[in-house]
Amino acid sequence: MRTQVGIVGAGPAGLMLSQLLRLNGIDTVVLEKQSRAYCEARIRAGVLEPWTVELLHEAQVADRMEREKMTHGGIEIAFDGKYRHIDILDLTGRDLTIWGQTEIVHDLNRALDEAGNGPVFEAKDVAIHDFDTDKPHITYTSNGESLEVHCDYIAGCDGYHGVCRASLAPDRIQTFERVYPFGWLGILVEQPPVSDELIYAHSERGFALFSMRSPATSRLYLQCAADENLAEWPDERIYEELRHRGGEKVAAHLKDAPSIEKSIAPLRSFVAEPLRHGALFLAGDAAHIVPPTGAKGLNLAVADVRILYRALIEFYKAGRTGLLENYSTTCLRRIWNAQRFSWWMTSMLHTFPESTPYERRLQVSEIEYVTGSAAASMSLAENYVGLPFD
Ligand code: APR
Ligand code: PHB
Repeated sequence: MRTQVGIVGAGPAGLMLSQLLRLNGIDTVVLEKQSRAYCEARIRAGVLEPWTVELLHEAQVADRMEREKMTHGGIEIAFDGKYRHIDILDLTGRDLTIWGQTEIVHDLNRALDEAGNGPVFEAKDVAIHDFDTDKPHITYTSNGESLEVHCDYIAGCDGYHGVCRASLAPDRIQTFERVYPFGWLGILVEQPPVSDELIYAHSERGFALFSMRSPATSRLYLQCAADENLAEWPDERIYEELRHRGGEKVAAHLKDAPSIEKSIAPLRSFVAEPLRHGALFLAGDAAHIVPPTGAKGLNLAVADVRILYRALIEFYKAGRTGLLENYSTTCLRRIWNAQRFSWWMTSMLHTFPESTPYERRLQVSEIEYVTGSAAASMSLAENYVGLPFD
């Protein structure tokens, strides 16, 4: 098989890249190790920056989102029995969209299928070869058959555990990492959102987040131990803890609806530099992970794609390689901004097992400052809504 860009991974990054390139007449093949049903059932992120929404329009997969989305002009922070609102729309002139990653993946798969260019699902033993030469190729097996894709470029959109970054000799990449001493236990429930806005709750018993997916569906999270056993968390225990951490306003609205999905995710900050290695371009979770507290993971993956697809178009349409050469540097500026913001939100809102009483007082003082000072609120707001691209 011959294509222009071989893409490994059919998460939001790989699918968006394929669709945007297709709309510009550039041929791609997407290889995904999981089944389509598995990929479309995964419950992941749900808060979109205006830039991400804009790119979904550019990719012509925004119709259903525009009909069904919710929008938010702010967030609430709960602490010390208080609820403080940060009016992001008022501060920045822009708002956030609630639209699940699951829905984005579904619509992208459908759009690619309709164009006769859907991903190859259940592609096993994917391996990338010769990306330092002008003859890069990808091998895989499908239904027991060994196949090869020859291409100009390879996009490694295969997430944190993928094969592309793992194919690089350790001395070619520099990695930066912070593993947090806790995780998030998340549930999806059929119950209307407890508030008009997302509530980020700081409490001595740990962080909690009250988010949503639709007017009838809530997404709720609790900070938990990194090695927490899900079996020890029946719904009743989760609700009891959510009530404690969320405070009165939240407790009154929680209906104890049974969970539709329940999972635990560890929290990690991670960057692998650079993002380009010859003909291989890493994008999305393959190159970086942020803790979910700033809602940046999906937006950052899509930001890489925005930069990469424009660079590839410049190459294929104008024969220029300048944007491709700058790809890694351009992405890394945004990545490190998001790293700093996500680390800061995580540090401000979670309970750290090793923190001293002094540090815990400082945390509350910081939340008071961020929610009380126009300058500090603005700093949170402009990052949360997404900083401008260069
Ligand atoms: N071969 C083929 N596909 C692979 C391989 C492999 N060896 N390894 C992983 N994959 C696939 C995964 O099954 C997954 O579908 O690559 C895809 C990567 O998708 P994501 O993990 O969703 O990563 P990305 O597209 O970068 O999107 C990042 O996802 O994890 C969330 O919070 C994160 O919202 C962010 C977004
Ligand atoms: C979510 O709805 O899943 C969500 C929202 C905000 C975050 C993280 C996750 O900061």
